[in-house]
This record gives sequence, C-alpha cells and structure tokens, in this order.
Amino acid sequence: MPADDISLKLLHLLRQAKDYISGEELSEKLAVSRTAIWKRIGSLKKEGFNIEASTRKGYRLIQSEDPYGKVSIQGRITGKILGSSLKFYQEVDSTSNVLKKLAAENAPEGTIVISDAQAAGRGRRGRAWISPAGLGIWMSVLLRPDLHPSQVQTLTLAASAAVMRALVPLGIEGLGIKWPNDIIINGKKVCGILTELSAEAEKVDWVIIGIGLNVNHDHDDFQTEIRDIATSLRLSGRRDSFYNRSEIAANIINELDAVYRGFLDKGPEWVVGEWKKWNVTLGKRVRLISQAGTREAEALDIAPDGRLIVRYDDGTTGEVLSGEVTLRE
Ligand code: BTN
Repeated sequence: MPADDISLKLLHLLRQAKDYISGEELSEKLAVSRTAIWKRIGSLKKEGFNIEASTRKGYRLIQSEDPYGKVSIQGRITGKILGSSLKFYQEVDSTSNVLKKLAAENAPEGTIVISDAQAAGRGRRGRAWISPAGLGIWMSVLLRPDLHPSQVQTLTLAASAAVMRALVPLGIEGLGIKWPNDIIINGKKVCGILTELSAEAEKVDWVIIGIGLNVNHDHDDFQTEIRDIATSLRLSGRRDSFYNRSEIAANIINELDAVYRGFLDKGPEWVVGEWKKWNVTLGKRVRLISQAGTREAEALDIAPDGRLIVRYDDGTTGEVLSGEVTLRE
C-alpha cells in the first residue's frame, strides 16, 4: 500500500469511528505497524487535522471542516488520469513553474501541483496573477496528449468547460465562459486559465494547464485596480460562509479528467459542444485585442480547433486563434 493510501484510509477510519479508536485496532485494520499509524497521525496533524491522542484510548478526530491540503483533496479524487501524483505546497513562485521543472524531469501525465499561495503567479499576456494565501485555488495540471501543437487550443476550451462543470452545482447565478477560457460571473472574472506547452514540430511533449480560481475573497482582498472587474465565488454566491477549497479543487480535477477523456475519445467537436453550453461570447459584439491591434466584430462560432469565428464590420469573416476579447453590449 503506498504511504498516501494509508493516510487516506486512516482518515476514513477516524471519521467513521466518531470517537476514540485504538492504535491497535487501526494497525490491524490497515495491516501496518503501530509506529506506521503514529507517523501518519503526525503528518495528518501537520496538515491541520485536529486529532487527539490518548495513551489509553487511542486517537480521535475532532470533526471540523477539512484543512486545505493534500489529504483533503486527494481523498476526493475519483478520476482515472489526473491526480495520480498530487503535490501540495504552502507557497511557491508559480505552480506552473514548479510543474514545468517536474515535466522536464519526466513527471507522468496527470501530475498536479497546488499551492495555498503564489509569490509570482502568472496570468495570460505577461500579466501577474495575484495569489494570496487562504483565498483561492492555484493549481497546475500536467498533460502529455498525443496531439499536434495546433490542437492544444481545444484543450484550453476543455479546461474551462471542466471548471464550469465543477462550479455549476454551487448554484451561483450568472456564471459563463468568455472566449477562450475566462470564467466570469455577471461580467466579472472569477477564474483564469493559462495554457503552456512544449512541443516538437509535429508533436506535443507536454501541456501545462494553470488554473486560478478566486474562491473566498472579499472586496478588500483584491487590489484596487482589479476590484471592479474581478470577483470570487463568495462575493457572487454564498456571502455568509466560506467555500471548501479542497472540495472544489477535487471537483475541478475530477471534471477535467472526464472532459480530457471525452476529448481523447470523442474528439474536439465534443469539447466545443461542452464549452458552448456555457458560452457568453457567441452572438455578441466583441472587441478583439491582439498584437495586430484592436478591432470590433460579431462573434459567430467556435471552430473545432478552438478558434473564434467572427464577422468584422466590413462584412468579411475571420478566425481568431488567440488574444483578448471584451464583450460589447
Ligand atoms: C489569466 O490571466 O486569465 C490566467 C491566469 C492563470 C493563473 C493560474 S494560478 C495557477 C497557475 N500558476 C500560475 O502562475 N498561473 C496559473
């Protein structure tokens, strides 16, 4: 049994027991020594679980909300590909930077890096992504699909569809995806996705999908410059209590696993169909901002490779691969 499995099963037994359970019983049920149990209890406590130990009675879990960390997230992962290896940190520069190093050392597909805080979180178009401790989900996922580099944009759409599938059950009004992959709530951004890849001419080596989701931020937790354009789940949803980040992170991982498998099995058209369920871009007038400049157009459709098909004001149509879109009402 791998070490992590023992911790997860141990936690499960402590939860079930609801009261003290002896070290002897735990060691019998898990078929490991009492020292092994004692060590795992130590790591669970370090992670923030409140476990009481008594020499006579054994161990007891004080039931409260799970701390945000590896065990709480891993225990909820049900997917087949993603999360096979999950690394959790208190603070890193950027989870995508950490994962890039692991990718270069041949980390397997499905490896995930999550951090409570990022000191140098990166956004799209060279922008910073402010990632304070205790408030959001900052995570990067490593994929090694057998794809041509031009097909990777569809994966970006897949990631935003997966985040939506995880958020919709929360019942927050006004959620949608703005092309290509910003998740917004009533026009304000709640989640951004940064896709990076390493490829040879014809074949992808790795893709890293970095997801930043604002979960429990209050107004003051955002810098003044973005206060009017950013939101969090809590600001737009349930104001009176905090959302459980472990649960939401695990749901995103599970949904991404499902959408990624859907992409591999059913192809890009299926992903575009999933994405369109929550699209708030098509049929709207948009302002397209790219290196070539700014143009206004009407957003018509999404091509299977993820490009946005638009009609410019002079009546010509075009396909946009990347850039920034703002919606014009
Ligand atoms: C955007 O600009 O919309 C994309 C933001 C992506 C932020 C995430 S947070 C986890 C991962 N690590 C980073 O440094 N960036 C991404």
